[in-house]
Amino acid sequence: MSTLWRHARLATLAGEQGWGLVEDGALWVEHGQLRWVGPDAALPPGLTPETEHDLAGALVTPGLIDPHTHLVYGGDRAAEFEQRLQGATYEEIARAGGGIRSTVSATRAASDDELFRTAALRARALMAEGVTTLEIKSGYGLTEADEARCLATARRLGRELPLGVRTTSLGAHALPPEYAGRADAYIDAACGWLAGQQAAGLVDAVDAFCDTIGFTPAQTRRIFEAAGRLGLPIKLHAEQLSDQGGAALAARHGALSCDHLEHLSQAGVAAMRAAGTVAVLLPGAYYFLRETRLPPVQALREAGVPIAIATDHNPGSSPTLSLLLMLNMACTLFRLTPEEAWRGVTQHAARALGLRDRGCLAPGLRADFAVWQAEHPRDLAYRFGHGRCIRSVCGGVERTPP
Ligand code: NIG
Ligand code: FE
Repeated sequence: MSTLWRHARLATLAGEQGWGLVEDGALWVEHGQLRWVGPDAALPPGLTPETEHDLAGALVTPGLIDPHTHLVYGGDRAAEFEQRLQGATYEEIARAGGGIRSTVSATRAASDDELFRTAALRARALMAEGVTTLEIKSGYGLTEADEARCLATARRLGRELPLGVRTTSLGAHALPPEYAGRADAYIDAACGWLAGQQAAGLVDAVDAFCDTIGFTPAQTRRIFEAAGRLGLPIKLHAEQLSDQGGAALAARHGALSCDHLEHLSQAGVAAMRAAGTVAVLLPGAYYFLRETRLPPVQALREAGVPIAIATDHNPGSSPTLSLLLMLNMACTLFRLTPEEAWRGVTQHAARALGLRDRGCLAPGLRADFAVWQAEHPRDLAYRFGHGRCIRSVCGGVERTPP
């Protein structure tokens, strides 16, 4: 299978900086991989593609990567949104048994097919905006069987859609009601589930929610140690609502990423820098929870910590399905430059998932790219609420509209 895509305006985002613009560019794709990327006029002679497309000057960027979602769950939390508008806080609702735990009840009650059907609709909405790789966390099952069901649903999405899916086990997301008052016993159980998830091929990384309404640093460390014994990489929901020193703890365990980070300290920044940990910023949750404390973007920048951006799609704190909107919010709310935001949903997002085979347009990488009705990638960070992805290709396979 070989395809030649010609006469595109390429933004390769290759290398450490710059857009990597190629005015009249071409991509040569073979067996799902980019074989050649460069100016159309310099195409190697003698290529005999099975298919050839003329993109007539349209913009082509790397496929977007959403490195933090909770896409598989039952129900929604619109009623909780109303409660918050009447004055209740996210933390109060969680402490009263709502929040994550109400989604856990709805998820346990949903059938496998219902979980798959609703998650596939969400995945397709993200794909319609050029997303070609998605991370999906468990964390709304909170029993061994329900966590496995959610991870298996995520795997099935990766098999049935033209989409790269990475799965993350997040048993340590919240304390399920049957373990009330026994958080340490629950952590023991959740640590014990990891080997089975790994043996079943269900898990690529392990995450936890380290916060006052989540788990303590000591409990989080036990999750990391269990992951470490199995050789599984780790990530952390860190410093979202308070500073627990979670980012430094995760960095000491070699975390791929620490996510949220509004309350990250300078010591946390230094630890992440030393470990090469990616900072995944989640402007949707910041916006939707009406947070006022900004993540320390300038300190991360000065330290050279790579910054990624994600939707954090979930029913409680970030019910968005637009990574393009996050690109805009990363600029407007967090003051990233459009180029930093783009790196955040491509190259740095790949790194947050431990993936080296995607994230920019370069020979040898997966043929994951999006074609846009736009002049320049910065236009897509500037607009909000509408982006025009004309077509997208994942592993050489073109997405068919639903
Ligand atoms: O990333 N902070 C913890 N977990 C999710 C929210 C989950 C929920 O409210 O259902 C987050 O924001
Ligand atoms: Fe999250």
